[in-house]
Amino acid sequence: MTEQTLVLIKPDGVSRGLTGEILARIERKGLTFQALELKNVSAELAAEHYAEHAERPFFGSLIEFITSGPVVAAVLEGPRAIAAFRQLAGGTDPVEKAVPGTIRGDFGLETQFNLVHGSDSPESAKREIALWFPEFPV
Ligand code: CMP
Repeated sequence: MTEQTLVLIKPDGVSRGLTGEILARIERKGLTFQALELKNVSAELAAEHYAEHAERPFFGSLIEFITSGPVVAAVLEGPRAIAAFRQLAGGTDPVEKAVPGTIRGDFGLETQFNLVHGSDSPESAKREIALWFPEFPV
């Protein structure tokens, strides 16, 4: 089933010069870009994006981090795109959960600085695509 998913290359991935590497992995997997943009993130957009984590102890530092520099936002499309990107990304904790061969497993050390975000369900994808690309056709 063809799906769309919202993907972010977070400020750590962009500032470390990993954008090309990460985009190449997405392309090699066979997912296609329906939208792709370098964006500065306002505190409002960050808080809306991570609303489900508002009560977590790390929320404040997460918002500070995600607004600390530009991110690359993308809408990816393909069969089972949501699960396919999460497979490429690896688990949230780059050491304890993500295995080598995944983006986080290859390049990450800390849970907060885990390089990429991918929508976790069709409902999240719809909400996040509308948030990051309000002009995007639904
Ligand atoms: P992401 O997939 O974007 O979804 C929520 C983000 O919160 C997650 O990636 C991490 O960047 C961050 N996060 C999750 N758990 C923790 C934690 N225990 N400490 C710090 N940051 C976290």
